[in-house]
Amino acid sequence: MNKSLEKTLQDADVSLSVLQALADNSFDSVLVTDATKAGKIIYANKSFSKLTGYTQSEVIGKTPRILQGPATDKKVVGRLREALMEGKKFEGKAINYKKNGTPFIMYWRVVPARVGKDTKVWIAIQREGVAVE
Ligand SMILES: Cc1cc2nc3c(=O)[nH]c(=O)nc-3n(C[C@H](O)[C@H](O)[C@H](O)COP(=O)(O)O)c2cc1C
Repeated sequence: MNKSLEKTLQDADVSLSVLQALADNSFDSVLVTDATKAGKIIYANKSFSKLTGYTQSEVIGKTPRILQGPATDKKVVGRLREALMEGKKFEGKAINYKKNGTPFIMYWRVVPARVGKDTKVWIAIQREGVAVE
């Protein structure tokens, strides 16, 4: 991050406002989970709802596993789980399911938000890939 933005973000109110504007208005889907082993969703933006059909209030407290189903590649999910356990970022794609059951290819980039060495939350930036036949 550049110094001028870092300085601006030192004010907690400004920091929150910038974060909200960025996440709420992103064209990509944004999910934030807590840093517990369960990984419960604490934030989902409008693009997530548009992509998956789940409302924001419907997914708060649940885990992103609700998007998985029979055709989800277990190897990819396993690699993601290992990355999370090691506190590392992960990029991958797998078949996920919308609320109405329609399968689609989900691309994610999952990154830890850290303070020092502590992961405070996990953030996923998500996007739909080519349609599944
Ligand atoms: C921030 C975040 C976003 C995630 N988003 C997705 C997702 O969009 N689709 C998906 O299949 N899994 C997603 N996951 C992965 C699952 O929540 C879970 O970590 C994964 O299934 C591995 O754990 P398990 O083997 O216990 O199921 C996400 C995880 C995190 C932390």
